[in-house]
Amino acid sequence: MPLGTNTALEGLAPSEIRRFSALARKVPGCVDLTLGEPAECTAGPVCDQVARSLDAGQTHYPPNRGREGLREAICAHMASGGLSFLPEQVVVTNGATEALFSALFALLEPGDELIVPTPAFLLYGAVATLCRARVVALDTAPDSFQIDPQRLMALVGPRTKAIVVTSPNNPTGAVLDARSLDAVATAAGRGLYVICDDVYDQLVYADGVQGFALRHPELSDRTVVVNSMSKPYAMTGWRLGWLAGPRELVDRIAMVHQYAVSSVVSFTQDAAALALSTDVAPMRAAYRARRDLVLERLDGMGLPVVRPEGAFYAFPRIEELGLGSRDFCVRAAREAGVALVPGAAFGAEGHVRLSYACADDALVCGLDRLGDFVGALRP
Ligand SMILES: Cc1ncc(COP(=O)(O)O)c(C=O)c1O
Repeated sequence: MPLGTNTALEGLAPSEIRRFSALARKVPGCVDLTLGEPAECTAGPVCDQVARSLDAGQTHYPPNRGREGLREAICAHMASGGLSFLPEQVVVTNGATEALFSALFALLEPGDELIVPTPAFLLYGAVATLCRARVVALDTAPDSFQIDPQRLMALVGPRTKAIVVTSPNNPTGAVLDARSLDAVATAAGRGLYVICDDVYDQLVYADGVQGFALRHPELSDRTVVVNSMSKPYAMTGWRLGWLAGPRELVDRIAMVHQYAVSSVVSFTQDAAALALSTDVAPMRAAYRARRDLVLERLDGMGLPVVRPEGAFYAFPRIEELGLGSRDFCVRAAREAGVALVPGAAFGAEGHVRLSYACADDALVCGLDRLGDFVGALRP
């Protein structure tokens, strides 16, 4: 008889993003628009700092919560965006992935409910499932991916423990407006934690946009801010992120972090501090130009899309083409040589996610192929 494993794992499926990017690699010449990962490499000076840190002997266990210098740099970075945290309120993590895992694991008990505005990044639901908590999806599709106050309040119940706020959003690129953020604040006022997944907060195209933590400082006692080096600094492979929140809660979350991973790699931390001083405006401008191209081309194909205001994703509707999103993506990869991720992977059938984090020429080629594929599907 096979030995058993944790039955909570039975609720998990392998990532469909990975599945469809693997499909892209299998089809010769396929243009891969699946991964949410900048095509650019990390800046040279940031990479060079790693060699200096190694030379300086940073090969020993670092402090659990991260080196003081990096946590100070993180606080200075957040302060430049109007958020005030002390280094002892920050934990440096293995990407936002571990920050989200540690935060949710610290909060969720079996039977608790986590409200996830959907479509959503897959990780929140997976961690909730591991905690034997229940994901309560708040469908934002009817509201152009904004949060409707009434729809949200209807989902808050005695077991609701927390809500996730992702703005800009993966997979839609939507930036939550003031009404949405205020709706979350009203719900949180009933005694919920708010997990702000801010990994795309530097990739917002409009000026003067406020995130949840900045707009609702009165809820700082229950708000955890998660962020990452991955996207704005093209550092996905470094696996570096952080979380920040109220001292007592961060102390609890740090316990999960300590026993799960102990700390992040020592000799990358000064490099991360250096990266935080980089001006990401040129990268943002490049993504914005690609966003404009994507919108123009989707419009030409007749695919409706909510205009993405940040991140590097578009989430067009493909419903009227008569294919489910998984079939659409399998056929687009095999028949047209362009790989996308099905909306079903994010809890939103009838859409596909197109990542424009890729190089410009790949994007143009991928859009040409998508246009041909969509054209051939139309009667
Ligand atoms: C919304 C969102 N949160 C978190 C992550 C994880 O980021 P990291 O590379 O820092 O683990 C991603 C990665 O795609 C993401 O899209």
